[in-house]
Amino acid sequence: MTASTPPAPRTPHGILRDGDQVQLTDPKGRINTLTLQTGKQWHGHKGWISHDEIIGRPEGIVVRSTGNIEYLVFRPLLQDFAVRMPRGAAVVYPKDAGQIVAMADIFPGARVVEAGAGSGALSCFLLRAVGEHGSLSSYERREDFAEVARKNVEKFFGGPHPSWKLTVGSLEDAITETDVDRVVLDMLAPWECLDAVAKALVPGGLVCAYIATTTQMSRVVEGLREHGCFAEPYAFETLVRSWHVEGLAVRPDHRMIGHTGFLVTARRLADGVTPPLRRRRPAKGAYPESGSTELTRGNDNRFPDTSQDVPAPESGFGSPPA
Ligand SMILES: C[S@@+](CC[C@H](N)C(=O)[O-])C[C@H]1O[C@@H](n2cnc3c(N)ncnc32)[C@H](O)[C@@H]1O
Repeated sequence: MTASTPPAPRTPHGILRDGDQVQLTDPKGRINTLTLQTGKQWHGHKGWISHDEIIGRPEGIVVRSTGNIEYLVFRPLLQDFAVRMPRGAAVVYPKDAGQIVAMADIFPGARVVEAGAGSGALSCFLLRAVGEHGSLSSYERREDFAEVARKNVEKFFGGPHPSWKLTVGSLEDAITETDVDRVVLDMLAPWECLDAVAKALVPGGLVCAYIATTTQMSRVVEGLREHGCFAEPYAFETLVRSWHVEGLAVRPDHRMIGHTGFLVTARRLADGVTPPLRRRRPAKGAYPESGSTELTRGNDNRFPDTSQDVPAPESGFGSPPA
């Protein structure tokens, strides 16, 4: 490390210190987050706890309030921090952030561009994934949201992250990066940024768009197909269902987060390359004048149809309708 290298962001671990964030979980699973301060007290609905009882001790302890309620003490995980942090714009939920890191193939050392930064939740996940040898350049068109994002990222990492640059401006006007490995878009109209994304990405680079509605998904997928610089896009969503597991009562929880958003990924082609014709059979009525088989451009059939390889069930479940 040279003298000019900024310090590595603090990774919170070890003994709990003054200034650390902790969460107290009560016997009903309710979580309260607080910042430890020497000499201060935390007041719950039944009694209080002195911060000094926690400072200097490890995580994973149990402290008892003056009202005789026991609380588990842990530092928040990033997933806890992301859903509880102050918000300007709506945040990407951990289930989607995890998918973005995996499916957009964000790797240590990657050069990544992101827009919009919103509240900075996804920025935290991306920064963790690129690490100190990668770079994340985040664009946010609203100055007030950019400020929220900056505060959240700095709070999570305990100071400025050496790999992070935050620019106030619209990605399509303000982007300066070239030779970028990955671009992640979480915004209303990602299709407006495709020219800028195509210019920024290296051949083989990947763009990932997170959108909330089917109409947006359709527009970004068709936009990528028509653009000419991208291979066939892949569109998907993730559903997560938690389970109640107690003795013989083992069943899915009654409540789940039903919908958050959709993801679309596509790879950047080399300049001047036209993808080979891909044969696909559109559903009846998918296109105004479609025939039964249509040849389209695109070559990235990421998850090919393997149904031909799977023996058909003899009867009942799983059989296609006759
Ligand atoms: C849903 S929020 C992003 C939330 C963020 N990913 C997070 O996890 O906290 C969408 C943000 O995109 C910003 N935005 C929309 N279009 C943009 C563009 N073309 N360039 C930069 N920011 C944009 C909006 O101002 C808004 O803050």
